[in-house]
Amino acid sequence: MATTQNSQPGAAATAIPASAPDACIPANPEAPDALPNGSAPGGTRTPKGPDWWLMMRAFLTQGKKIASFAPSSRFMARKLLDGIDWTNTQTIVELGAGTGPITAVMTKLARPETKLIVIELDPILCGRLRERFRHAANVDVILGDATCFGDLLAERGIQQVDHVISGLPLPSFPAVARDAVLEMAAKTIAAHGTFRQITVMPLVYYKLYRRYFDDVRFRFVPFNLPPGGVYVCRGYRGTLSTTR
Ligand SMILES: C[S@@+](CC[C@H](N)C(=O)[O-])C[C@H]1O[C@@H](n2cnc3c(N)ncnc32)[C@H](O)[C@@H]1O
Repeated sequence: MATTQNSQPGAAATAIPASAPDACIPANPEAPDALPNGSAPGGTRTPKGPDWWLMMRAFLTQGKKIASFAPSSRFMARKLLDGIDWTNTQTIVELGAGTGPITAVMTKLARPETKLIVIELDPILCGRLRERFRHAANVDVILGDATCFGDLLAERGIQQVDHVISGLPLPSFPAVARDAVLEMAAKTIAAHGTFRQITVMPLVYYKLYRRYFDDVRFRFVPFNLPPGGVYVCRGYRGTLSTTR
């Protein structure tokens, strides 16, 4: 049985195939803190050192699960968030927040009533996020797997978000986990909303995102280490397996 929904502006109601996975598909099932519903038992670890070192160390030890050796620049964060109407934004979910460079800019732009749900899998990076945003009452930092973010939102009584912001290394996820994240995003994002993705490989994955979304805009960000960009996506078309 297929369910229908209209996730994006100008998009026709999108059929979610009957085969849509309801259970989460962990991108990193061997992670010690992984739980079936994607949340982890509060077990963050105390971060030692500056953000650049935490990211560098995570990259050196986990490679493509991290995908970038440095936190995003504020130029990347601004470009990613450009165009969001903060006056009408109730909830944003950020997937793969790292040390929080994008979260930090969101806390400056968002109204205090706007909920910022921030999900990070790495216990040390999550520890940094909890420490950094401990005074931000509208920021909820979750140690968990973003491939289960629908469950994590449901646990908090959230059915819909205005935008999904992703720092996840989606191209290196197993296809089934990437499909699950993007399908969940499509089910969750409000009609006016967007899926926004950072990259440090400008335009390389444009075709990949076009296979999931009808409308994909790329914005180049030269002032980032390394230079990168952002994809702003609307009009979910279905998972790769249904659009191939
Ligand atoms: C390229 S870094 C981006 C970090 C940060 N958003 C930034 O812009 O600097 C990717 C982040 O995604 C996190 N990540 C990878 N897989 C994840 C998953 N399944 N669930 C949640 N976070 C994940 C990594 O731990 C890492 O912090």
